[in-house]
Amino acid sequence: MTTLRFDPAEPWLAAQPQDTARALPAPCYVEPSMALRDRDAVFARSWQLVGHAAQFAGAGDHAPCDVAGVPLVIVRGEDEAGARGPLRALHNVCRHRAGPLATCAARGARALTCQYHGWTYGLDGRLRGAPEMGRAEGFDPAEVTLPQARVEQWQGLVFAALDAQAPPFETLVDGIDARLAAAGHDLADLRFHQRVSYDIDCDWKVYVDNYLEGYHVPRVHPALNAALDYASYRTELAPWHSLQSSPLDTAPTLYGSGEALYFWLWPNTMLNCLPGRLQTNRVLSLGSGRCRVEFDFFYIQESAQSAADAQFSDLVQHEDITICSAVQRGLASGSYEPGRLNPLRESGVWHFHELLRSAYRDRR
Ligand code: FES
Ligand SMILES: [Fe+2]
Repeated sequence: MTTLRFDPAEPWLAAQPQDTARALPAPCYVEPSMALRDRDAVFARSWQLVGHAAQFAGAGDHAPCDVAGVPLVIVRGEDEAGARGPLRALHNVCRHRAGPLATCAARGARALTCQYHGWTYGLDGRLRGAPEMGRAEGFDPAEVTLPQARVEQWQGLVFAALDAQAPPFETLVDGIDARLAAAGHDLADLRFHQRVSYDIDCDWKVYVDNYLEGYHVPRVHPALNAALDYASYRTELAPWHSLQSSPLDTAPTLYGSGEALYFWLWPNTMLNCLPGRLQTNRVLSLGSGRCRVEFDFFYIQESAQSAADAQFSDLVQHEDITICSAVQRGLASGSYEPGRLNPLRESGVWHFHELLRSAYRDRR
């Protein structure tokens, strides 16, 4: 397999008109160096889903997470009266010798104390105390502060971004609120139910590609195909997200009637909205040829249907895992040259690849 070159003049990196577009070259999904490139060019410069609002309801509620290799702690601050204040994404890396402040989620903390030597930070990230540092000449705790990442709460979900170059959050989700409201969804009403994680033998981009098209549904997901109306399946593109939608079949099925909305947010977040239910997917790179997908389930109300929903989702997921793993083997075989995309059914894949090409051009 030829080594990929990232010079912006390389033809494969040029923007491609949709009607003549080809898929990305196989080395993009296979070369070990891509894990680092994706971390720096994509994950470090984009919004990452890091939790949901109920985890940070009160002052001092916090949870650790990781964005592009940087440990963060998302924490609800306090106002002057000690009541609920702003949400922050502090670097979870102590300014003494890089120890962790938070190693698990907790509620109502008054401060964050490093697990290594006990330096203590306020919920705003300022150092409040450093034990036995009296002899350290010129050391002024007031000058020590944890760096902060950007953080946003939207529709009951919490996102963080490391980099000033990530697009403004409003542009990421522009138009989604109106679309959700029109379909009768209010995601903030939903309550977290459970997380299910899958480790998969494919590059994270193989999984995202597969998510972004319904072209494979009739062949790979026969049961899902029966619940959806494939003929009416549509894809709409926005600058930083896309939406696949399908009316649910009106025959009595698992999901009842209404509309299925499948939002993808650049680069690795999915929001699968069905009547009374939200499922978020977060696709995490585990290095070359491997990824983890975390499914978080939210419902208005838990019911017998929640269990059936999770079971059905697991079936569909295993169908996707089987095909994505086979695709990864095909990409790694040395046999594959980039094929033509289907403009009718794969506009979401084209859109994702255009954003990737742009990210790679910007960050050689
Ligand atoms: S590393 Fe945090 S107190 Fe030493
Ligand atoms: Fe699928």
